[in-house]
Amino acid sequence: MLDELEKYLDLHILSLPVWLKNHLMRTADVSQFLAKIHHSNIQKCKVGALGHDISKLYSEDKLIKIVKDNNLLCTDFELLHTEVLHGPVAAFELSNYIHKNSSVYNSIRWHTSGHVDFDSENKIVFLADKLDPYKIEKRPELKKISDIAIKDLDRAIGEFFKIQFEFLKKNNVDIHPESKKYYKFLI
Ligand SMILES: [Fe+2]
Ligand SMILES: [Fe+2]
Repeated sequence: MLDELEKYLDLHILSLPVWLKNHLMRTADVSQFLAKIHHSNIQKCKVGALGHDISKLYSEDKLIKIVKDNNLLCTDFELLHTEVLHGPVAAFELSNYIHKNSSVYNSIRWHTSGHVDFDSENKIVFLADKLDPYKIEKRPELKKISDIAIKDLDRAIGEFFKIQFEFLKKNNVDIHPESKKYYKFLI
């Protein structure tokens, strides 16, 4: 099943706009690098990374329609902050290849906020998305998170939240309640 998903995603991302394809490929590179260091499942980390943003370009209306038509379980916060719905929708759209509640499903479903039930592959995909070298170039304060991620995934996610919460507050963006919960769990 994972082999088929990998084959599908390797091809599918070629149909996406260059900037998104490149983000997914860089995320997959970071993800596989961290998987090797932390002795995690490399393939799960690769496909989670390649799949996490495949629904990123959908309009708000399309995301809401998919959520409603398919009764996807989303929180009230997510229904009000539709920019985070591309995670649950992407996980759903890959359901021919991944079971609901499997590790890869959770990596994609919760890649924006994080989740207290994250396993090591989920943590790696979450961090790899945030540590895309292009993002670090734009926000150099994230560089120290990549250094920490090599040694300790939990500490890297905790430090990321610390920086991110400040950033979101400054920009008047609401923080996902699941991120707050996960941060409290980690510190
Ligand atoms: Fe995303
Ligand atoms: Fe992303």
